[in-house]
Amino acid sequence: MVPTVTSPRWKWKWALLALALAAGAVLAAALHERSARLEYRLLVQSPARLAADPVLVQFAVAQARPLYAQHCASCHGDALRGRSAVGAPDLTDRVWLYGEGSIHDIERTLLYGVRSGLSKSHNVTDMPAYGLMGRLSDAEIHNAVQYVLQLSGNAHEAPAATEGRALYVKAECLDCHGPDGRGDSSYGAPDLTANVWNSGGDADSLYRAIYSGQHHIMPAWIGQLTLEQIRALAVYVYSISHPPAANPPNANRSP
Ligand code: HEC
Ligand code: HEC
Repeated sequence: MVPTVTSPRWKWKWALLALALAAGAVLAAALHERSARLEYRLLVQSPARLAADPVLVQFAVAQARPLYAQHCASCHGDALRGRSAVGAPDLTDRVWLYGEGSIHDIERTLLYGVRSGLSKSHNVTDMPAYGLMGRLSDAEIHNAVQYVLQLSGNAHEAPAATEGRALYVKAECLDCHGPDGRGDSSYGAPDLTANVWNSGGDADSLYRAIYSGQHHIMPAWIGQLTLEQIRALAVYVYSISHPPAANPPNANRSP
């Protein structure tokens, strides 16, 4: 006999199909609920304790990757290694302009940005334009560059660096970059000894930074992304810069 849709064999097939659909719906609902629960946990967990929760870190990284590609890669590069053309720092190392690189510090930078125009953004100071403003001559800037090269352990002209060292005090570089050149991460003055640069680091780029000053802008993301997305991105940047077999801080700085 030819089976019809009402024959017992078809009834079984329909029953199995219905069962499979129901199981699928239950699974989808469970996954959705799990994701909502993780999203909630990601937001309420204290940033200081997030890194120790591998399930949350994995969830955050999965959320953050496409957001990074869409919103951040244009400035910080696909592999988070920064782009000197726009002064965007490498986010994979342990050298931070702002704070110590904790999830909390990174999240704060993401929320309000740097010189973004929001009152809570990082915006204490700028790198002055010593050449443009006529505060230093070309020769003096040359000497300052040689001193910065020396500070960062690079090849330099020793006599010019000695002149530059005196200028470093006279021109008040030390007010922002500190007496030993180690910068100040409470207001984004870079560490000049780390040999990690936002805008190159060769003699020409250093000359340009001192001649023309710097006023790099990092957009604020509050209002553009949800708080959960911003936290996920902060955990992502943290996890990339603090891989599990972590080196001691700053061990991966270039010599
Ligand atoms: C328009 C370019 C631009 C975009 C887009 C951008 N950034 Fe930035 N970002 C910068 C610049 C420039 C700085 C450095 C500001 C300075 O020199 O003080 C910076 C700084 C940072 C810092 C601080 C690093 C430190 O050393 O303290 C973090 C973290 C960061 N960005 C993450 C992100 C993430 C995540 C995104 C995407 C949501 C993003 N940025 C999007 C340009 C950008
Ligand atoms: C008022 C504070 C201040 C003073 C004074 C100052 N700097 Fe800076 N400097 C900064 C800040 C802030 C930045 C980063 C600016 C940015 O990213 O937009 C910077 C950036 C730099 C950079 C570029 C670093 C890089 O990664 O590209 C160099 C080099 C530098 N300063 C050297 C000097 C020297 C040499 C002097 C003295 C002649 C000096 N600075 C004086 C605040 C200051």
